[in-house]
Amino acid sequence: MKRVAILISGGGSNMVALADSMVGDHPGRPVLVLSNVAGAGGLAKAEDRGIETAVLAHRDFGDRREFERALSARLEKVAPDVICLAGFMRMLTPEFTDRWAGRILNIHPSLLPKYPGLNTHARALEAGDTHAGATVHLVTGDLDAGPILGQARVPVRADDTVETLAARVLIGEHALYPAVLARFVRGEVAPLSM
Ligand code: GAR
Repeated sequence: MKRVAILISGGGSNMVALADSMVGDHPGRPVLVLSNVAGAGGLAKAEDRGIETAVLAHRDFGDRREFERALSARLEKVAPDVICLAGFMRMLTPEFTDRWAGRILNIHPSLLPKYPGLNTHARALEAGDTHAGATVHLVTGDLDAGPILGQARVPVRADDTVETLAARVLIGEHALYPAVLARFVRGEVAPLSM
């Protein structure tokens, strides 16, 4: 069984999709949901599912390196095979990404390599894109730039706002991330498109 830790900062809808997919003969199981924000909505959803939770508030640490060292130490306690970033809104330094190299997945709300960073939906609307989507990729020291493992595409509608587009992309994320995770824990890493 592969041990999957999930890092969140907010509502945790992707965490829920991942956790709820790891049942039956799925080769993964969630072993920890960790938030860098106390009171993040996803924590209660993890507790409801009987998953161990932890809060490591980045604000309690002097700098990024101290926070990441504490994060690695907390993760080491659950010995994860895979770490899924699921709406985890902290940039990670190479020290951290090297420590867990090849084991960290992230979901990003754009069709990478378009729109790394923040405000992805506003940028897609501004550019007049006909399609938007989400990407699951391996995390390296370069922000939102690691090898792509899967993408989900959705249409952009003429009357879309950031909110309506984000909601449509999020539905795609909830199908994409569990599908990529299932393949990843089985050792199948050919890119998937949905
Ligand atoms: C998701 O749309 C995810 O792709 C995005 O945050 C949202 C989290 O929602 N992640 C990023 O922007 C990472 N840079 P959730 O907490 O409901 O899963």
